[in-house]
Amino acid sequence: MFQKIGFIGTGAMGSAVARLAAGGAPSLYLSNRTAEKASRLAQALPGAVVSSNQEIAGLCDLIFLAVKPQVMPQVLTEIAPVLARRQDRFTLVTMAAGLTCETIRQLAGGAYPVIRMMPNTPITVHAGAIQYCGVDVPAEQLEAFAALLQDAGTVDQLPEHLIDAASALSGCGPAFVCQFIEALADGGVACGLPRQKALAYAAQMVEGAAKMVRLSGQHPGALKDTVCSPAGSTIQGVRALERAAFRGAAMDAVIAAYEKNLELKEGK
Ligand SMILES: NC(=O)c1ccc[n+]([C@@H]2O[C@H](COP(=O)([O-])OP(=O)(O)OC[C@H]3O[C@@H](n4cnc5c(N)ncnc54)[C@H](OP(=O)(O)O)[C@@H]3O)[C@@H](O)[C@H]2O)c1
Repeated sequence: MFQKIGFIGTGAMGSAVARLAAGGAPSLYLSNRTAEKASRLAQALPGAVVSSNQEIAGLCDLIFLAVKPQVMPQVLTEIAPVLARRQDRFTLVTMAAGLTCETIRQLAGGAYPVIRMMPNTPITVHAGAIQYCGVDVPAEQLEAFAALLQDAGTVDQLPEHLIDAASALSGCGPAFVCQFIEALADGGVACGLPRQKALAYAAQMVEGAAKMVRLSGQHPGALKDTVCSPAGSTIQGVRALERAAFRGAAMDAVIAAYEKNLELKEGK
């Protein structure tokens, strides 16, 4: 379905998504402010070539905008005249936190089809999540878009008004979980485990617990109860977390990220 896919910005997330999209079209064009980053990625991906923002804007039928939200106005102002001259159909894809499809259209200077996606870093190990929505994008093209990125992990269509919430939970969440894993490992080290073993055990345990939540269909509270024997050690750890307001802190982390997404929407 897609003939020429382009990425403007090949940083952490742009390159992760480009790796998934590589092979989904005959040509892949990569552009980055620091050109060496695009060159390095092009060498790793079959069919990929280094390009420029303007060339991508003029040639590609799927144009990923993988720059920071604060940089988006500058990039779209730069390519707007090229987009305006096009007679063929193309779709802009934004992954910028907080920016709506409508904002992208305004910055790009036209009512172009836009897909808004929210990836997370675990897509690099095919265990991530992408939420997406589209404006003026036909259903079959949205399906092709989801198929293009299916190796990410899960790819889920969501109404646009929920993307900021998904971004705060699913997009930012890997940082929160890594903090948790690091803290658990510190606890293990405090109890005498070597650092490498403590980290490996913490990561494996979080992955396994998450898999149980996903696959068992049981409520996480019920799964927690199965570990807590009466008068046992686990319930003492649960008590320590409750006393430290662990669940309130986790909720606040998501809400704080959500509030920052809303600020980004206002250009702050
Ligand atoms: N990281 C995440 O977990 C995550 C999750 C969800 C969504 N996102 C979104 O993904 C987008 C990219 O974030 P990121 O984490 O990948 O940031 P990043 O690593 O800083 O990548 C941004 C890239 O954009 C390039 N760039 C800056 N100005 C440019 C220009 N005028 N033309 C072409 N390229 C330009 C930068 O080039 P230089 O090499 O010169 O700096 C950099 O490589 C953001 O909108 C962010 O909200 C990120």
